[in-house]
Amino acid sequence: MKILGISGSPRKDETSGVYKLVKTVLENTGIEYELISLRGKKIGGCIACLKCAKDNVCKVDDDMSELREKIVHADAYVIGAPNYYSTINAITHAFLERLYQFRHQEGDSLWGKLAVAVGVGGMDGKIPADDIEKFLMYSFIETVAKVSGQGAAACYSCGYGETCGVGIPVMLYGKGVKITPESIPDVSKDQDVMEKAADAGRILAKRLTTGHDRKIVTQDMQQALMDMLKCST
Ligand SMILES: Cc1cc2nc3c(=O)[nH]c(=O)nc-3n(C[C@H](O)[C@H](O)[C@H](O)COP(=O)(O)O)c2cc1C
Repeated sequence: MKILGISGSPRKDETSGVYKLVKTVLENTGIEYELISLRGKKIGGCIACLKCAKDNVCKVDDDMSELREKIVHADAYVIGAPNYYSTINAITHAFLERLYQFRHQEGDSLWGKLAVAVGVGGMDGKIPADDIEKFLMYSFIETVAKVSGQGAAACYSCGYGETCGVGIPVMLYGKGVKITPESIPDVSKDQDVMEKAADAGRILAKRLTTGHDRKIVTQDMQQALMDMLKCST
């Protein structure tokens, strides 16, 4: 059994809240895992060429190709993204769009698998976690837990954070805010969030190891997707 972790942050692993949370979830599963950062990868969005329709293999030649087999062989996923403009950032969006290659002619490589969704925002980390859950539903993957936290917006390190009127520190705490190492948000200093990430890992492991039936999950997710689509019309 193997879990694939995907961190969609373009930041270095040691400074990314998404990477830290995805890693914490994975470590707490107690199951073999591989954690891949999308940082530096070249992955474009789906170009709707439909060349995957026949065999469920995307023909676009970029770094998504090397991830395809890992996605197919993983039993579950832990996927995290930062909040950019109140949605997931572009590379995670592109990665998730490219799961379209698996959706044709009953291609069931992903159906009924399980996932944990992770979101981090300078203010709101819930939005990206919810977005990831929605994307995965289209592949009939069940998100068994979501984890969200507050990370360090770039405004804390850009050099103008104490005075910039549209920066997150001033928006959150007003003019005159003082930025100190202690005041910079860091998910790994947030006990509550770290505990939720650890819990999510344990929930995923329990679901995977206690009679996980992909057929039943697939049926449930097909229904959940239909319900979601009906609600939005
Ligand atoms: C282009 C850009 C747009 C952003 N937009 C938002 C936003 O709309 N809401 C929010 O809460 N944080 C926003 N942020 C802040 C990031 O979500 C925050 O820095 C987070 O810690 C990034 O995760 P990471 O540390 O894993 O890279 C934005 C950051 C960037 C670079």
